[in-house]
Amino acid sequence: MAHQRIRIQDAGQHVGEPVEIAGWLYNLRKSGKIAFPLLRDGTGIIQCVAVKANIEEALFETLKNLTQESSLIVRGTIREEPRAQGGYEMDVDGAEIVQRVPEWDPYPITPKDHGTDFLMENRHLWLRSKRQHAVIRVRHEVIKAVRDYFDSHGFTLVDTPIFTPTACEGTTTLFEVDYFEDEKVYLAQSGQLYNEADAMAFGKVYCFGPTFRAEKSKTRRHLTEFWMVEPEMAYATLDDVKQVAEELVVYVVGCVLENRRKELEALERDTTKLESIKAPFPRMSYDDAVTILQKKGSEIKWGSDFGGADETLITEELDRPLMVDRFPTQVKAFYFEPDANRPELALGVDVIAPEGYGEIIGGGQRIHDLNLLLKRLEEHRLPPEAFNWYVDLRKYGSVPHGGFGMGIERFVAWMCGLEHIRETIAYPRMLYRTRP
Ligand code: 4AD
Ligand code: MG
Repeated sequence: MAHQRIRIQDAGQHVGEPVEIAGWLYNLRKSGKIAFPLLRDGTGIIQCVAVKANIEEALFETLKNLTQESSLIVRGTIREEPRAQGGYEMDVDGAEIVQRVPEWDPYPITPKDHGTDFLMENRHLWLRSKRQHAVIRVRHEVIKAVRDYFDSHGFTLVDTPIFTPTACEGTTTLFEVDYFEDEKVYLAQSGQLYNEADAMAFGKVYCFGPTFRAEKSKTRRHLTEFWMVEPEMAYATLDDVKQVAEELVVYVVGCVLENRRKELEALERDTTKLESIKAPFPRMSYDDAVTILQKKGSEIKWGSDFGGADETLITEELDRPLMVDRFPTQVKAFYFEPDANRPELALGVDVIAPEGYGEIIGGGQRIHDLNLLLKRLEEHRLPPEAFNWYVDLRKYGSVPHGGFGMGIERFVAWMCGLEHIRETIAYPRMLYRTRP
């Protein structure tokens, strides 16, 4: 009978059937007459049981001496085994080695502990490890859930350019690129400005892509290249923005809990912390947040932005994200609509995750008045020529509008309970890392 090719995650549907699994040797245990190769195939890990008496002698010797991460196809029968990781084992009747990793150049990542630098240098291989594998699968789920949310709530996907002539989030973190004929462009810090144009065309839009910031700081929350999803809505106020942000976060956390239990378990994530992420999220003004922070011992003064430590402090007693709004205009980007009653405040909101994961969302309502926008461009010393098209949006059917950006890596770090953001993307780009 032919062996059907299956993937390890589906082993349970093939109990008692002759199957084959194509994968890599994750680990190997052996005693005299039995070898237990642990096989991984990208969907899971299964223990195989190769008994000397049941297979060809030469094959048994080959399996018994196989090196870590050698590639192979194993044939046999799936058996239920409650004690096994995953609940199943495979009794081996045959195998074919695809490539044997040589002893003299062994797989560099062994089950023993390695330092982070070494692992980052070997990121292309580290991704095969159980924890890293789980993190990337959670990331996939987060991205899928984000898209599902917007796709089912009337948003049109309109992706925005990466080469841009303008700064969106301040000129200090721009990556400049030589374009043709002496032209300079910048890598996009955000798709927001284009999103605003797209919202005037489609009503509700989102963009989702890589964004770039020349952050010269070495924090556990900053990458120089990160992925951001950004919705933008015409005829929307700060309250509408907050509502969508809250709904999105609740939905995505729910999907991760529903579809990535195994991965969260592998990461030893305390899932009760995620189960309490429900609407409504607590809301607080910047004024109140500063007062509370000062009482808690922070040195923050009214008028400055939160540091990472402040974000941790302000959420320390909370079991869900906190929404802080109405920041001083001076700490925010040029495009924020001012509060009508207190023009020194910007109608912006930050969503701060609990457990010390920091700001996951930033957004708000945008200026829709032509003269105010022109004034702000001037105050921020932004070249009006580069913003001509953006200014046009305030001339031709301008309406109140708003949106936000959610950083995927920060969100994934929170879901997975990771200390550092670098593990949430396959190939992180940071101040001192552009390889592999
Ligand atoms: O708060 P930010 O800078 O907001 C914007 O870029 C707006 N233009 C978005 C909008 O309104 N459409 O960034 C938004 C989010 C942050 O809350 C954070 O999650 C993430 O992007 N982020 C970073 N993630 C990783 N590394 C960095 N250097 C990040 N900078 C921002
Ligand atoms: Mg921000």
